[in-house]
Amino acid sequence: MINVQFSARSERWETYGAPLRKAFAEAGIEADLRRDHAPELVDYVVYAPNGPLTDFSHYTSCKAVLSLWAGVEAIIGNQTLTLPLCRMVDPGLTAGMVEWVTGHVLRYHLDIDSSIAQQDRWQPVVLPLAQERPVTVLGLGALGQACANTLAHLGFPVTGWSRSPKQLKSLNCQHGAAGLRQALSTAKIVVLLLPDTPATNNILNVETLARLPYGARIINPGRGPLIDDGALLAALDSGHIAHATLDVFRVEPLPAEHPYWAHPKVTVTPHIAAETRPITAAQVIAENIRRGEAGEPYLHLVDRQLGY
Ligand SMILES: NC(=O)c1ccc[n+]([C@@H]2O[C@H](COP(=O)([O-])OP(=O)(O)OC[C@H]3O[C@@H](n4cnc5c(N)ncnc54)[C@H](OP(=O)(O)O)[C@@H]3O)[C@@H](O)[C@H]2O)c1
Repeated sequence: MINVQFSARSERWETYGAPLRKAFAEAGIEADLRRDHAPELVDYVVYAPNGPLTDFSHYTSCKAVLSLWAGVEAIIGNQTLTLPLCRMVDPGLTAGMVEWVTGHVLRYHLDIDSSIAQQDRWQPVVLPLAQERPVTVLGLGALGQACANTLAHLGFPVTGWSRSPKQLKSLNCQHGAAGLRQALSTAKIVVLLLPDTPATNNILNVETLARLPYGARIINPGRGPLIDDGALLAALDSGHIAHATLDVFRVEPLPAEHPYWAHPKVTVTPHIAAETRPITAAQVIAENIRRGEAGEPYLHLVDRQLGY
């Protein structure tokens, strides 16, 4: 019997318990899934950062910690955690992110706000085609690639930027500092899908925002610290950046007094871009436990040096 500890907010137990048990059964895993195993008897921890578990030092026979979240910045610095840590790559979460990003790109591209504001008058305009609106996606991982591919499929010229060099069909792939300058220089819309690491902190700052074409728009479903908030507010006020849609923030919930709430050029959404979906995520967790038991490499293993 494999002891699996579930450590997330208590309401998650209601949504994840049954899908996890089903996925374990389908994968042929005999697991005892609970929230109250004695730490020293636990084989795997299914983990979310806002759950009760912060000290891993008593999990002496644990083989891996399996995160329900894609972003691992809240756990990566935990000194008590030296076990293999896997982040979540979930087809359901990815589909949600693709839909959210595509929706917000199309809002900008089709100027849907103007259509809504002008619904009391007959004033035809010719809208540009996607092929005339270059989009840059910062981050070409599980989520960035899926979004970039969908946008490219719709006809947008898509540039993607990552840490390591890539060659991906239908995408202009850039990497490194020079690649970032190139990726930003053409972007009418920028989508941030980078992890929160020391290397990505304030990646959009005074200097990089200035590299964007005048009137560019920004969509951030990645993480709040990717953007220097003061620099973005200044760029919005000067008009250099036309609008920003922000789903994630340095402090969440976004404090009531934060200037983003009332800013006419900012849309705030409450960290809703993409949620891990229990049924598909449970299958990923089960597959990683199966791999752990079979001595096979884990999927989506976090690189502690890189921070993601
Ligand atoms: N708002 C929401 O609801 C929500 C939901 C889920 C996830 N997220 C956020 O989305 C982020 C991305 O998720 P993911 O699953 O796509 O992550 P991922 O698969 O780990 O991909 C991360 C991408 O960022 C690139 N990258 C990392 N550090 C970089 C650097 N210093 N310079 C340039 N590129 C860098 C990586 O480059 P390489 O390819 O070269 O490694 C990779 O392409 C998560 O970390 C999380 O913060 C938000």
